[in-house]
Amino acid sequence: GESISVQEYAKLLGIEATDVIKKLIGLGVMATLNNEIDAETAQILGAEYGVETKIKEPEKPEELEDIEDKPEELIERPPVVTVMGHVDHGKTSLLDAIREENVTATEAGGITQHIGAYQAQINGRKITFLDTPGHEAFTAMRARGAQATDIAILVVAADDGVMPQTVEAINHAKAAGVPVIVAINKIDKPDSNPDRVKQELTEHGLVSEDWGGETICVPVSAIRKEGLDTLLEMVLLVAEMQEIKANPDRPARGIVIEAELDKGRGPVATMLVLKGTLKVGQPLVAGSIFGKVRAMMDYKGRRIKSAGPSVPVEVLGLSDVPNAGDVFQVMDEKKARAVAGEIQTVKREEELRRSGKISLDELFNSM
Ligand code: GTP
Ligand code: MG
Repeated sequence: GESISVQEYAKLLGIEATDVIKKLIGLGVMATLNNEIDAETAQILGAEYGVETKIKEPEKPEELEDIEDKPEELIERPPVVTVMGHVDHGKTSLLDAIREENVTATEAGGITQHIGAYQAQINGRKITFLDTPGHEAFTAMRARGAQATDIAILVVAADDGVMPQTVEAINHAKAAGVPVIVAINKIDKPDSNPDRVKQELTEHGLVSEDWGGETICVPVSAIRKEGLDTLLEMVLLVAEMQEIKANPDRPARGIVIEAELDKGRGPVATMLVLKGTLKVGQPLVAGSIFGKVRAMMDYKGRRIKSAGPSVPVEVLGLSDVPNAGDVFQVMDEKKARAVAGEIQTVKREEELRRSGKISLDELFNSM
């Protein structure tokens, strides 16, 4: 956020810097001349001096400009489903079970790729699944305005019930306006109690359909692969009630699901295309990273040349490792390099300011 040094603040108000420091100490903030005062502290301090403090809206070059699509350009795309829930309630097991039943059967050697996203085919229709992004990544995506999820599957273990991260997941989904389907998992366990789960869910505004509410609850067992078909049918049903569309014929835009530095291959990112079609050879910006797609693999590890809306891909050719939750956007190479450079400069300056070191710009301006 915005900040101002003690010295600058004193100068601005025409008072002694030592007086500002005293006031700050009075407020419980230990400061020296060159320390930065953050926006909130500046407001409190302002009140002390009887001045109104206006906070400058931070510039947002981190936001990659989007292109407007016309309604007639939009066509149906597979729904993107995120599986969420409390630790150990069976999110990964459920995804694995769905994948084994609907993906691995056609996969050579049955080796499952462990990328954070995959597509399954049900009744001839595709669904894109996202392995639970950590709540941080989910929050980051929302903060960047990337609505990457169409439907959330909330996994609740029938023997454990609603737990803190279940509630967190419900709140995330609510805030994002994403419909929730509840998978009551581990119904094979002798101490499972689906009714207790439904009871607890009502306390958080999710009332099961069979209790007169609107929330679809499907009892499942990931271990025994029970209830999976019903769950997937419900996903398609909920998807049909929404407008799940995108324009495939435009420069691709989407989000980074996960990324890492691979010893042999360099930076590798799993990306989800939300709009447009991503093609090998195209330049892009991912977060603040410039890249030029050198190669793309689908969730089965097969090389592909292009990826349309809702398709998760592994991308090689980035100049560095982006963050999970970062937005990516294809643009012409010159612009992509300039935009990435600009964002990186702003970020570096912010970091320097935070670490208390002076930036070159400030050094020159103060001379
Ligand atoms: P985190 O990623 O750590 O949050 O956990 P998770 O939600 O992905 O749970 P995971 O799939 O790793 O499962 C946790 C444990 O529950 C494992 O020991 C699974 O074998 C077990 N488990 C998952 N689903 C079922 C089920 O349907 N029945 C039974 N009996 N056990 C299950
Ligand atoms: Mg897991």
